[in-house]
Amino acid sequence: MSLPEKVTIIEVGPRDGLQNEDNFIDTETKKEFIKKLELAGIQEMEITSFVSPKWVPQMKDAVSIVNARPREVRAIALVPNRKGIEKLLETDCKDIAVFVGVSDSFNRKNINKSTRESMAELKPIIAELKADGFFIRACISTAFYCPYEGKVSTLDTLKLCHEFAKAGVDELSAADTIGMATPIESFLLFSKLKKELPTIQLTAHFHDTRKMALANIFAALQAGIDRFDTSAGGIGGCPFAPGASGNVATEDVVYMLGRMGIETGVDLDRLVDAIDVITPHLSRKIDSGFYRFSKGGHQP
Ligand code: HMG
Ligand code: MG
Repeated sequence: MSLPEKVTIIEVGPRDGLQNEDNFIDTETKKEFIKKLELAGIQEMEITSFVSPKWVPQMKDAVSIVNARPREVRAIALVPNRKGIEKLLETDCKDIAVFVGVSDSFNRKNINKSTRESMAELKPIIAELKADGFFIRACISTAFYCPYEGKVSTLDTLKLCHEFAKAGVDELSAADTIGMATPIESFLLFSKLKKELPTIQLTAHFHDTRKMALANIFAALQAGIDRFDTSAGGIGGCPFAPGASGNVATEDVVYMLGRMGIETGVDLDRLVDAIDVITPHLSRKIDSGFYRFSKGGHQP
């Protein structure tokens, strides 16, 4: 069995987690959540997104969140289009994530454009930002399954990843948006990505809708992946992907990896402190195994 000694956790709770909440969570609480995540040892984090406040009102405080970001960690902001970049440029943040769905139907629901139209808009933006020293991550939604089209062709996912790599992004995060991938599918896609794009940072992003995310992570580890998007408390989901529930919980991933002797640099007690900050503001209960265990089996 081939496993890495170290894994990088990219915490996506403040963005993927809070975008899917029923209500707007106040900006100061979000800032406190982000601060506590940094104190827990998180080194890379998606903190917000520059998207339309009409589409995703939960992210309407993006400028304020970015201006208050921790400077010692890679604090990433998502942007879907040029308008988002214009807003981002009001700040001094140089870590961004663009996002596109392999599936056209999903991309239209999420960004109101076809996949091709999104790529045509993003490619020159990527070139401009790279020339200006930005770190650019590309999030590949519906890399396995689409809520509207069903199974997505692996070839189409690989093609989109190659296109982004050619455009000059630094990182690719391939997502199981609706939590349907199996460990075999995870192993196969990430093995191919590792082989075909050996020089780019590769990350796996699993939603845990059907409780297969930990198994998928274990499969991706064996394909050579050592970067995982996870969300404190397992919060999250895309408002435009029906049925997509939370991301795999950071604490469950950190616990599992730790028990296997794989280092993440994340302190579980401090992670629980971070989750405690956000829990009272959430519209749903946290049901990650480690968090429940840390509370003696009960949620406060
Ligand atoms: P649109 O309505 O087609 O936009 O939405 P438009 O270009 O026609 O503009 C309409 C209005 O929106 C205009 O304002 C624009 O200025 C404004 P008005 O003149 O009406 O006052 N606008 C913006 N405002 C702020 N920021 C912007 C922006 N762009 C236009 N960037 C749009 C197109 C992309 C804006 C919309 O569809 C949108 O905001 N979509 C975001 C959806 C989203 O956030 N999804 C969740 C993130 S992706 C995800 O969760 C998946 C991931 O986790 C991986 C996985 O699990 O799969 C990453
Ligand atoms: Mg997601």
